[in-house]
Amino acid sequence: SPLQPYIIEGKTYPLDSFSNIPPSILSKLPRSLHTQPNHPISILRQIIESHFSTFNSIIPSSPVVTVHENFDELGFPPDHPGRALTDSYYLNKEHMLRTHTSAHEVGTYRKDLNSWLLTADVYRRDEIDSSHYPVFHQMEGTHIWSKDQLNVLPELNRKLSMELKKCPLIIEDPTKVGPNNPYQIEHDPVHAAEITQHLKHSLNSLIFRLFGQSATHEGEPLRVRWIEAFFPFTTPSYEVEVWWNGEWLELLGCGVVMQRTLDQAGVGHKAGWAFGLGLERIAMVLFDIPDIRLFWSTDPRFISQFSPGQITQFKPYSKYPPCYKDMSFWLPISSVFHENDFCEIVRDVAGDLVETVELIDDFTHPKTGRQSKCYRLNYRSMDRSLSNEEVNVLQDQVQRRVVQEMGIEMR
Ligand code: PHE
Repeated sequence: SPLQPYIIEGKTYPLDSFSNIPPSILSKLPRSLHTQPNHPISILRQIIESHFSTFNSIIPSSPVVTVHENFDELGFPPDHPGRALTDSYYLNKEHMLRTHTSAHEVGTYRKDLNSWLLTADVYRRDEIDSSHYPVFHQMEGTHIWSKDQLNVLPELNRKLSMELKKCPLIIEDPTKVGPNNPYQIEHDPVHAAEITQHLKHSLNSLIFRLFGQSATHEGEPLRVRWIEAFFPFTTPSYEVEVWWNGEWLELLGCGVVMQRTLDQAGVGHKAGWAFGLGLERIAMVLFDIPDIRLFWSTDPRFISQFSPGQITQFKPYSKYPPCYKDMSFWLPISSVFHENDFCEIVRDVAGDLVETVELIDDFTHPKTGRQSKCYRLNYRSMDRSLSNEEVNVLQDQVQRRVVQEMGIEMR
């Protein structure tokens, strides 16, 4: 656990029993990938912003939000798993690093903006592999209307629908509004249906803009799939996926904004929709970036390949050899073992030199009932070759720290 109070954007946050942010995470805060003009994350942000050209673009300055803003205000129940210390980063009991851009919804509605896009870095404790990183980027988009102006929607929907008919796009949408995914009692169902339709048209059109021109789909129309979902701050709610390289790729969550959320912002007379999408996942497929760590590379061979407004395929400068080391240990008897805590120590020691952490064996002793695990740590640099000696030093450090901090015993 940290020793000094956190100081972020000039503000001091006293420590308490919740404080769990390691230096390796704090060092990411100033990077601001989503505002570096040549960075794929920023390029993608700008393409989405130009698609929704009438929307306000917002970039919050600090990733620190209150637990109230990130969870309570949005209706997350007190026992929601996302709140756990093993899943989120806390400065202290009151403040945390946002886990999603929805943490800014109420604050932004309060500014009386009707349509906006908000892009930010978000933080979640997680496993280690080529598509998970504890810092990533989301974009929140919403469109709300005064309830007495909702009569513009049928005409808007007619236009959007005509535009979409011209696109080679297959939309699979078996979703139904019903008891599991209802309209809100505060809404006239006709209005709620128009808002939902506008949401669906707007996002289908965005997805076509992003994925529709790709060479991968030459001849074949793009396929988009709508799935019923649940979020505490929207209903009805959906997830949207796109068919890409032979599998469904999850793009975003969305829904009709809960009236309670708008009430809290003092705009209870309005209604509309919101979505939140993850930029890394989309950028990885559009720019052909094979490993999420590359976004954080400071190697000029990475960043020099991209320019604003353009989606170009990443050319790997070279793949350096991997080096793996296994680690077997007995789990603690008196405390619970969380894989995220293990991964965090690995990241803290090895940073971006660790590529994956895989569980390769899980064993319970038949007599003593004691449990052991074996993890394979794969080391590989994006920019150079690693020596076996240097990897051994890292592995030893990880070993020492997990024994000290997690109460486990090496086998
Ligand atoms: N914040 C949600 C997530 O991170 C996504 C979302 C945004 C869902 C807005 C609905 C509306 O998963």
